[in-house]
Amino acid sequence: MAKYSAVILAAGKGVRMKSDLPKILHRAGGYPLAAHVVHAVKEAGIEDIVMVVGHGREQVEKYFSADNLVFVTQEQQLGTGHALMQAADSIDPDSTMLVLAGDIPLIQSSTIKALINYHEEKQAGATVLSTCLDDPFGYGRIVRGPGGNLLKIVEEKDCNPQEKLIEEINSGIYLFQAGKVFAALSGLQSANAQGEYYLTDVLEILADQGQIVQVMLTDSSEDIYGVNNRVQLAQVEKILRRRKNESLMLEGVTIIDPDSTFIDYTVTIGADTVIFPFTIITGDTRIGSHCEIGPSTYINDTIIGNETTVEQSRIKEAVIGNLCTIGPFAYLRPGANLADKVKVGDFVEIKNSNIGVNSKIPHLSYVGDAEVGESVNIGAGTITCNYDGKNKYHTVLEDGVFIGSNTNLVAPVTIGKGSITGAGSTITRDVPANSLAVERAVQKVVPDRNKRD
Ligand code: UD1
Ligand code: CA
Repeated sequence: MAKYSAVILAAGKGVRMKSDLPKILHRAGGYPLAAHVVHAVKEAGIEDIVMVVGHGREQVEKYFSADNLVFVTQEQQLGTGHALMQAADSIDPDSTMLVLAGDIPLIQSSTIKALINYHEEKQAGATVLSTCLDDPFGYGRIVRGPGGNLLKIVEEKDCNPQEKLIEEINSGIYLFQAGKVFAALSGLQSANAQGEYYLTDVLEILADQGQIVQVMLTDSSEDIYGVNNRVQLAQVEKILRRRKNESLMLEGVTIIDPDSTFIDYTVTIGADTVIFPFTIITGDTRIGSHCEIGPSTYINDTIIGNETTVEQSRIKEAVIGNLCTIGPFAYLRPGANLADKVKVGDFVEIKNSNIGVNSKIPHLSYVGDAEVGESVNIGAGTITCNYDGKNKYHTVLEDGVFIGSNTNLVAPVTIGKGSITGAGSTITRDVPANSLAVERAVQKVVPDRNKRD
């Protein structure tokens, strides 16, 4: 079997994005644009990947540092042909080389595999992937000869009026016999409207050298959609979101309204979980099966077990066990770590705290920097006073503790196993096990209040 390599062209600035961020690092579906491309290339079975970088090179290399790519720098962006030349020393000349841009996040491994099969069947020296678009504006046009073979590719800016009418466009995705294309690239010239070294011209050169140059026309035109500005970025986002929702639904997740449900590519969700509308699930989030999530819920970088319900809540960097009930209107912040069967009710905020099995914080509480044991009940309006203006302190509530409503727990403080605090108490000292701690003035009753003056 032939050996495969790939070159991802990603040195351009992406001027039309009007952004400080390099275009290919703009995100859609939770990943930078070029990460979708890297993912598809790897999924197609290609391991040797070179990325040509230039604008924002440090940022790009940093993002992809764990992806095992070889980076080559194109100091000046003199065109796609010039960009590919920079990879010459990093690619095995005997390999079959896939070349594609980093700004086409919709490319799927199935399309790459189909192109490889076609290239091999035809025993081609070069194969370009094309598609037909109702609006081909901006793309290079495929100009075919009388027999249907490729004559040349003409860029929009170089097209004559007839060529502008051609609907078949160059996807910018190619397969080449690596050694041959690198040899041919030295023959490129930049006598065109943009004064650039066009990679597209190399196909003509290869054909003149007697190489078999093929065009594979695909009808999956969505796959080659390029992002040049933020309008296209939003269009791509929508398509990625649709694809993600569809794949989840086909795996057994119910999504009540896919149009109002935003789930990143990075997210996994188990079967028989139901996602209600207006829910956003992002980052490294893993949700188990038989859960109910939403409506109007935001979850980021969070792990959730099975059979848990999250209603109308905001959750970030938390870990939630099985059979928990969260919300409505709960706010779980980084480090909220809930065991199984925990209940967190309305207007409860939890940060950097472990909550044990079967514990309940049903209403209106703030729990921060706390260690809460099993079967603890925290009454409405309880506050862990964890911050003195300078430092943060811990609160420990041991197993079976019952905190009366409207208790202030002034940390550092520990409430021993099985103890109770009276409603309205401000607890400043440790409470031993099995005790009752009350801290409040004895109630005074003034009779006949109307007659006092
Ligand atoms: C290119 C093709 C066009 C095709 C279209 C498909 C050429 C000359 N034209 O046009 O036929 O229809 O893609 O989307 O190839 N890049 C570099 N260095 C450079 C120039 C570009 O790395 O010097 C990278 C860019 O970062 C980008 C990719 O190459 O990722 C494509 O460049 P771009 O300028 O977007 O080419 P198009 O005009 O879209
Ligand atoms: Ca482009």
